[in-house]
Amino acid sequence: MSDQIPLALDPCCGSRMMWFDKERPDVLFGDNRAETITVTDRSHGQEGGTRTLRIAPDVRTDFRDLPYPDESFYLVAFDPPHLVRAGRKSWLAAKYGRLGADWRDDLRAGFAECFRVLKPNGTLVFKWNETQIKAREVLALAPHRPLFGHTGGKRDTHWMVFMKPEGGNTGMT
Ligand SMILES: C[S@@+](CC[C@H](N)C(=O)[O-])C[C@H]1O[C@@H](n2cnc3c(N)ncnc32)[C@H](O)[C@@H]1O
Repeated sequence: MSDQIPLALDPCCGSRMMWFDKERPDVLFGDNRAETITVTDRSHGQEGGTRTLRIAPDVRTDFRDLPYPDESFYLVAFDPPHLVRAGRKSWLAAKYGRLGADWRDDLRAGFAECFRVLKPNGTLVFKWNETQIKAREVLALAPHRPLFGHTGGKRDTHWMVFMKPEGGNTGMT
C-alpha cells in the first residue's frame, strides 16, 4: 500500500481482475480474505488444467462494517459475491466468493457502508452478475437508485452507477 491518501475504495477486490491497473496507489483494495489458491480449471479447453488465484488485499475488511470515517472516498467500486450455490471445489466460488444465507442483510449492509464512506456527490459503481439472483432484487437493497447502468445483455453482468445525494435525499420516489 502506498503513502498516498486513497481517493477510491474497492472493499471486496478479490484478485482485482476488473482493474486495468491493479496497483493504483490512490485506490485502497480490501477483501475479507487473503489467500493464494490453485484450483482445477477445465475452461478454455484446458482439460485437466489448473489456475492459481492470488487474493492479496491492502487491508482485510468486511464490507458490512468498513473501518473508515464517513465521507472518506470519491469513488467506491462494489463487486460483492453473487453466487449462493456453487460446488465445494468450484473455481467460480474460489474466484468470486459465495453469499451466505443472510445475503439480503449482508448486501443491504454493504450498500449502506459504501454510501456512508462516500463523499457527498461521490460515485458508487456496482457490479452484479444475475445468473442466480436477479439484479432488481439486489438493487432493492440499496438506499438509493442508480443513475444509469449497463443491464446485462447476453452475459448477465450488470454495471450500475450511483451518485451519493447530498443531505437526506435518497433519490427514491
Ligand atoms: C465478485 S468477487 C470480486 C472480484 C473482483 N472485483 C475482481 O475484479 O477480481 C467478490 C469478493 O468479495 C469478497 N468478500 C465476500 N464477502 C466479503 C465481505 N463481507 N467483506 C469483504 N469482502 C468480501 C470475496 O472474498 C471475493 O473476493
